[in-house]
Amino acid sequence: MKRDGFGSKLGIIAAAAGSAVGLGNIYRFPCELGNNGGGAFLIVYLLIVLGLGVPVMLSEFVIGRRTQKNPVGAFRMLRPKSGWPIIGYLGVICGLIILAFYSTVAGWTLEYIVKAVGDQFSGKDLSVIEQEFSDFHNLGWKNVLWQVVFIFLTAFVVFKGVADGIEKYSKILMPLLVLILIVLAIRSITLPGGTDGLSFLFKPDFSKITGSVVISALGQAFFSLSMGMGVLITYGSYIKKEDNLLSSSVSVVLADTLVAVLAGLVIFPAAFSFGVQPTAGMGLVFNTLPMIFNQMSGGYFFCIIFFVLLAVAALTSTISLLEVIVAYLVEELHINRRWATVVAAVASAIVGVFASLSLKNGSAFSIGGNSFFNCLDFVSSNILLPIGAFFIVLFVGWIMGKSEFFAEVTNEGKLKMSIKGIVFFIIKFLAPVAIAIIFVTGLF
Ligand code: PFF
Repeated sequence: MKRDGFGSKLGIIAAAAGSAVGLGNIYRFPCELGNNGGGAFLIVYLLIVLGLGVPVMLSEFVIGRRTQKNPVGAFRMLRPKSGWPIIGYLGVICGLIILAFYSTVAGWTLEYIVKAVGDQFSGKDLSVIEQEFSDFHNLGWKNVLWQVVFIFLTAFVVFKGVADGIEKYSKILMPLLVLILIVLAIRSITLPGGTDGLSFLFKPDFSKITGSVVISALGQAFFSLSMGMGVLITYGSYIKKEDNLLSSSVSVVLADTLVAVLAGLVIFPAAFSFGVQPTAGMGLVFNTLPMIFNQMSGGYFFCIIFFVLLAVAALTSTISLLEVIVAYLVEELHINRRWATVVAAVASAIVGVFASLSLKNGSAFSIGGNSFFNCLDFVSSNILLPIGAFFIVLFVGWIMGKSEFFAEVTNEGKLKMSIKGIVFFIIKFLAPVAIAIIFVTGLF
């Protein structure tokens, strides 16, 4: 069977960056940073992303391109009749879990596009905007409706296939998103009191670094880079044999980190200026942003463009999540692509509805006092992704081994790469040890 492939070098970087850049950067990153002590979290986060991001991403790309398969098939092909495909299954399940709660927030972006077009923010005080946000997610049915619409949109693109779907959208719109974030950051920093937000972001209070901060940073790093669950194995399987996997990984990690830091520069100065608590969680983004637009000339148009781009960024991420499940169903269970897409979309929508409804005040869908939404988020990001990433680097370092790794990163010797030995050393020794230490100390 001929597999889809990405058309160009930019195509693969754009598609992987499209998966990486999303609500994780613009919505989840500020929430986590705000709840975990600001600057201290940022430092731990940057250390993890820069130290572990490239080795883990490269390992996933190597496994994917070597085997040209989905995560389950890839491990099965490299080590038949072993337990390794379990890591692939874990990834497929994790994809479903993430898609379920991610689509809740993705749905909100659609509601906010409608609000922006209807000019429903202008002239309103923060308290009114906050009240409307909380009324909205207490109205369970509307969340569910937008969520289902979002999953439907995702399924539509996935169904159309990789090359003309994902690549086309990512290439143009991601750079535009970066541009608009820069404009917003400038507006936010120049608001009265905005510099307090900069201090919150860049003046770390090291006494705030605790086990839970560290594990949150680890989870956020993997979540933001779409690592640890086989999205990048799947995308790696679509990368052409002549592309440079190492430089692609570096580009994606840097692009993703840039967007997260930019999002911080947009949100925190404005939050401090308007008096939104950094610990406000969901409201941090959905309430602060409309307030920024209210303070800008042309704010009406910026607001619409921003929420459209946010929705697109979320879409390129949900596409990658659905694609992992679909690639598995098509290649391993031999279901045709149309049915596989329907099955995966319906399954994630069913779980997702409970995630959405669990955010209503007094909802019955909670576990141990935490909403079902938060439980799905915690289990996938802070537990399953680190476990997945740990076994992925372990596999490449110890099972796949040096010669196969070198063959794949150097495109069978065609690329001269003097640092491949160091990179392999990091994958074999440093990365698994670091992930294990951070995970275990963080958890206990
Ligand atoms: N990286 C995406 C974001 O930051 O929004 C979310 C995500 C996509 C996580 C795909 C995990 C994944 F496999």
